[in-house]
Amino acid sequence: MTAGAPAAGRVPGTGGGRFDQAPFLRACRGQPVPHVPVWFMRQAGRALPEYRAARGSGSILEAIARPDLVVELTCQPVDRYGTDAAVVFSDIVVPAAAVGFGVDVAPGTGPVVAEPFRRREDLGRLRPLDPEADTPYVLEAVRLLADTLAVPLIGFAGGPFTVACYLVEGGPSRNFTKVKALMHGDPVLWHHLVERLTDLALASLRSQLDAGASAVQIFDSWAGILTPRHYAELVLPATRRLVAELAASHPGTPTILFGVGTGELLHLMAGAGTSVVGVDWRVPLDEARRRIGPDTAVQGNLDPALCLAGWEVAAAETREVLDLAGTAPGHIFNLGHGVLPETDPGILEAVAALVHEEGRAGVATA
Ligand code: CP3
Repeated sequence: MTAGAPAAGRVPGTGGGRFDQAPFLRACRGQPVPHVPVWFMRQAGRALPEYRAARGSGSILEAIARPDLVVELTCQPVDRYGTDAAVVFSDIVVPAAAVGFGVDVAPGTGPVVAEPFRRREDLGRLRPLDPEADTPYVLEAVRLLADTLAVPLIGFAGGPFTVACYLVEGGPSRNFTKVKALMHGDPVLWHHLVERLTDLALASLRSQLDAGASAVQIFDSWAGILTPRHYAELVLPATRRLVAELAASHPGTPTILFGVGTGELLHLMAGAGTSVVGVDWRVPLDEARRRIGPDTAVQGNLDPALCLAGWEVAAAETREVLDLAGTAPGHIFNLGHGVLPETDPGILEAVAALVHEEGRAGVATA
């Protein structure tokens, strides 16, 4: 960034809540847009040298507790890529960590839990979240960001199922055997756990919106490991409650529900009631739109690995995504999952520019 002039993504001191007509929010609502908006999941992170320089070592939870650093790390990708939205630098395990469940995030591994959730007594380790008291640093960062950014800020929480995966498995998992054993072996305890995690997510999301976030995304990243029936019975009801309670307290606020490998769940996810459903790269967007229906916007879905295959491939595949998204309103361009650490930032910058130039979903043709 050049000293003196604010970078493109930042307009200091202009206050939050002024983004009503921003292309990202309009696309979430299925309205026409001047250009197709784009942001990248996990846009902050190791792909950026300026992130590595600012972040330092230690647990990401320590970094998240420093609002000045969070502002810097959140703004970096917006400045660099020219994205239409920022996503607050935080993590899906922050609320559970903040109520003292005992979870950390190990660099290079992800969330790790010393004493995983196993039995009814463990519910006592998941007391309600009081955001002002338990995560004041998140709210301070969101307030600063809402004042600084020139684009809307996305707040987020983990979906109850995905957070449960980490708490029950004790860390990242390949087969999710322990969480499946709990869901099916003790459905009553599962219900209580999911309801507690839904309350944590709800309190966290509401507090981020009150502090100035313009939209929220629910990352239910691992929902795709479930069958449609099990998702519908054991996860969707809590997700639907989360979305409904958010809509009651924050009417009109765009909400996004995302998971990986959810091709067979998309029609069910659309029933959660969010404004947008995020789609990974496995389902072409025209087919995703059919499964999700005309009243819900779609977000996605360039395979992040193709950003590593050179610009020609990335450009062709970006055009393919734009093509499949069609011309109807309600497309937010994104990757099908998070930015991979080995990605050349220049490719993402060029992808964003290409989307702005050539995206047609909801863009009036003169
Ligand atoms: O998108 C963003 O730029 C905002 C920040 C963000 C982070 N985590 C920061 C982070 C977001 C939105 C998340 C969400 C998150 N965290 C998810 C859902 C999204 C997804 O990828 O499916 C999940 C499953 C987690 C749990 C988690 N935290 C994982 C799997 C990891 C990766 C471990 C690693 O180092 O590769 C983390 C750590 C983490 N969270 C990093 C970042 C930038 C990694 C780098 C670091 O520690 O500095």
